[in-house]
Amino acid sequence: MIKLHKITKKYGDTVALNDFSLNIPEGILLVLLGPSGCGKSTVIKLINHLITPTSGEIFINNRNIKEMDLTNLRRGIGYVIQSVGLFPHYNVYENIATVPRLLKWPENEIDRRVDYLLELVGLSKNNRNKFPAELSGGEGQRVGVARALAADPPILLMDEPFGSVDPLNRERLQKEFYRIQKQLKKTVLLVTHDVEEAIRLGDQIAIMRPGHLASLGNPAHFIAEKEEKYVKEFLGDEYPLKLLSRLSVQDIMDWEVVKDSGDGNSDVSTLQIYKESNVSSALSLMITKGINVCQVIDDEQNIVGTFTFEDILKKAFSGEKNAKE
Ligand SMILES: Nc1ncnc2c1ncn2[C@@H]1O[C@H](COP(=O)(O)OP(=O)(O)OP(=O)(O)O)[C@@H](O)[C@H]1O
Ligand SMILES: [Mg+2]
Repeated sequence: MIKLHKITKKYGDTVALNDFSLNIPEGILLVLLGPSGCGKSTVIKLINHLITPTSGEIFINNRNIKEMDLTNLRRGIGYVIQSVGLFPHYNVYENIATVPRLLKWPENEIDRRVDYLLELVGLSKNNRNKFPAELSGGEGQRVGVARALAADPPILLMDEPFGSVDPLNRERLQKEFYRIQKQLKKTVLLVTHDVEEAIRLGDQIAIMRPGHLASLGNPAHFIAEKEEKYVKEFLGDEYPLKLLSRLSVQDIMDWEVVKDSGDGNSDVSTLQIYKESNVSSALSLMITKGINVCQVIDDEQNIVGTFTFEDILKKAFSGEKNAKE
């Protein structure tokens, strides 16, 4: 859907991108991950035609963006600007309404849309009349996401959308955004330098070194031995452990229920884990308790299967299990 073909971008003597190519398939959330200054924001600005490449071509739905009308191009793209970028003199309602107003939507339709989007990103309607300075960082970033979604564009470009939020709220925002993305199935390019964010959100991760693409694949892809030193160092030794937080127990458990001959009360030494728990938390519990076999339970406390260390080793890193549907 979005294709960057052999892009070089120079700012004076600085080569921000050097013969850089990347494909973003439709409906996929691709995370662009890399250190500060490697050219991530440059990629986003090029797709949005805020800047033009020194050489190379960019296509959206097989159309060269050079030949597209700028207004039409931007109409199809929601853009979350690095460090929020809300208009300070507009209130929340007006910020979110920016593009629909440009598109001359009737005001009552915009009104409904703003309410819908505020609910979608988990903000109360009471925030409608607040100005950006009256919002917390996390609230501001949510408004930024709502504004990008306002005119329902098929493409979202998000430049560190959750960057300035504290870790706890960031995780909550990421979960909300993940839920929204599963619902709306946009084509998303999300820029970050946070490895855990990339693991949590990415269907695909593109890892950059300055000016270049270093590696591309689904999150499980990067535990392969063949990955080069730069990629391994950037992701860190704990990458496989971080990967576990992406999976829930139900992704890798054994669904066979061993019949309990007793009175229904489990042995006190048996660890029970909810099937929705993430594998990383489950593993922490198993280590803390020194227990290898866990019973997996559903919301009604029914035992639905079991789960062992071996299941993690055998199934968690197999690639397909880690590729989100
Ligand atoms: N307008 C500009 N003029 C000159 N150099 C620029 C300009 N914009 C970016 N650069 C340079 O291009 C390179 C890539 O910048 P870019 O903003 O794409 O990095 P980034 O990966 O988004 O970094 P960060 O994670 O810090 O946001 C950097 O070396 C930067 O200094
Ligand atoms: Mg940047």
